[in-house]
Amino acid sequence: MIKIFKLKNIISIKDFEREDIEYILDEASKLEDIAKSRDISEELKGKILGLMFFEPSTRTRISFETAMKRLHGQCIGFTSSGSSSVSKGESIADTAKMFEGYSDALVIRHELEGVSKFISDIVDVPVINAGDGAGQHPTQTLLDLYTIRNEIGSIDNLKIALIGDLKFGRTVHSLSNALCLFDNVKIYLVSPPELRMPQEVLIDLDKTNVEYEEVSNIEDIIDDVNVLYVTRIQKERFGDIDEYEKIKGAYIVNKKMLEGKDLIVMHPLPRIDEIAGDVDDTKYNKYFTQAANAVPVRMAILKTLIKNNPK
Ligand code: CP
Repeated sequence: MIKIFKLKNIISIKDFEREDIEYILDEASKLEDIAKSRDISEELKGKILGLMFFEPSTRTRISFETAMKRLHGQCIGFTSSGSSSVSKGESIADTAKMFEGYSDALVIRHELEGVSKFISDIVDVPVINAGDGAGQHPTQTLLDLYTIRNEIGSIDNLKIALIGDLKFGRTVHSLSNALCLFDNVKIYLVSPPELRMPQEVLIDLDKTNVEYEEVSNIEDIIDDVNVLYVTRIQKERFGDIDEYEKIKGAYIVNKKMLEGKDLIVMHPLPRIDEIAGDVDDTKYNKYFTQAANAVPVRMAILKTLIKNNPK
């Protein structure tokens, strides 16, 4: 049976069905050799990707750029509001219309939830949400799932601890929603009381077969998980910096606590101090592999969306 990817835009992982996720992960597997420069592809030759990054990024922006270039496409864009005419008062809508004229697809990062969706409603080219405030980060979730599938062998039957800033961390919101599509998944939600998972995500989990438990200590669950998914406390989203100062450093994963455990450590990055440097040289470290997996996964996304939706 020929598989078809139905989505034109990637705005929220909640728009995906399991078969859509599996389509992208399977495509990414096929593109691994090109991602690692062992083969070449001209799939997107002559195509241009518009990168509209209103908020800082290292991995997402650079890996989208790498992905496009590996497929022989090109990139245009800006890396902050300050380097675009938004700083002179131009609206996001007008900026997006300009990029629609110049590009075959748009990748948007913005500090406000809903901006990618708003832009997808006013342009005809595919729009990809590269992180909207504390909302969603769906392409991060696809590369997280790709990493889990590669490292653990399956996403079904996963036992995962989401650790740290579950309130503001958009990666854990998207990942929780995605895990609802898989079988027999258990999620431990490990956070300080102030940074619990938002109620709307818990309501989504309640509607599915995913089992979840809110806990305060990593030690209580470390023997029962395949994956520790650690996140940074998102200083930039605190209204009151004193609140951040009270909570920062609440969870630190180090080599000693991992010894003898049968698990992997993931992190969407950037990290501050929540994974100690002594974990980097252990078998548990999969966060750099995870970051590298962004290239085949984002190649699969770009190839699929741009080829399915020619201008
Ligand atoms: N994981 C992630 O979104 O990293 P950046 O903020 O560096 O893009």
